[in-house]
Amino acid sequence: MKINRRNFIKTGAVAGGGILLSQIPSSKIFSSSIKDLKNPIVVSTWEPNLKSNAKAMEILLTGNNSLNAIEEGIKVTEADPTDSSVGYGGLPDAEGVVTLDASIMDWSGNAGSVAFLQNIMHPISVARLVMEKTKHVMLAGEGAKKFALENGFKEENLLTEESRTAWLKWKEKNEKKDNHDTIGMLAIDKFSNMSGGVSTSGMAFKLHGRVGDSPIIGAAMFVDNEVGGAVSTGNGEYVMRTLGSFLIVEKMREGNSPQKACELAVERVYKSYKNLIDVNVCYIALSKSGEVGAYSLKKGFTYCVTTPDDNKSYESDFLIK
Ligand code: GLY
Repeated sequence: MKINRRNFIKTGAVAGGGILLSQIPSSKIFSSSIKDLKNPIVVSTWEPNLKSNAKAMEILLTGNNSLNAIEEGIKVTEADPTDSSVGYGGLPDAEGVVTLDASIMDWSGNAGSVAFLQNIMHPISVARLVMEKTKHVMLAGEGAKKFALENGFKEENLLTEESRTAWLKWKEKNEKKDNHDTIGMLAIDKFSNMSGGVSTSGMAFKLHGRVGDSPIIGAAMFVDNEVGGAVSTGNGEYVMRTLGSFLIVEKMREGNSPQKACELAVERVYKSYKNLIDVNVCYIALSKSGEVGAYSLKKGFTYCVTTPDDNKSYESDFLIK
């Protein structure tokens, strides 16, 4: 694998104490060029998910496939009580209930997802079981929970004291709280097979019953092993309305780089919708050859790229400057 290591190290230091990314011309924010991918690679949304990437890479380096890497990697974030937008510790909806969305897809085009799932710590694993054990793609709400319990998952309280306090404060002051730190992850294994996954507790204090983009195949996540994959984070409503991840994969199929394809998907949102004041939409894409792209509507999106040699986060370029 010929990752451009100089560029990688020079630009990749959000967490590592390197030069400030704001000093870097946007064209140099990240570039990788892997012509002959032989080693595994993992990419994910948001800097705190470096730990999940590390787990996924550990799985890949034992020779395991990308589907196992995605599941085990995402489970790390789902079990982290300090992450207030995924799994355990996720901020609840307006009624104080933590509801979870997740999806997973493998290199053969198999897909599974869960929506509005409650009291189950690992929605990504339930999504995988939906994919592997049923003829369906998506299970929602009570049905998804029943399926999980029948398959050995435990019912657990996912509302931490911190999240409950934040919810009570929100109820009192009705303050806006924008958290969209969904984990989206893509991985390629040593067999050159790509898988993807997404998991979230969704928009904080959303209407009870709201489902975001994460369980919608083609919205928050899409993988086509011939071309590549994409994942999203941010305001799911805009990702769903533009079917962003599917759009990115199709743009890559037409010959666009992952970076250009992410830019086109963000521009689609910008051109289609006027009132984007409290909205951010963020994408990362990974081509079949291991090239990475990332782009967001607004500043602030970070993402992680992990190879056998490196596990670093980067700041994404963005449209509205
Ligand atoms: N992108 C996560 C959500 O809107 O639920």
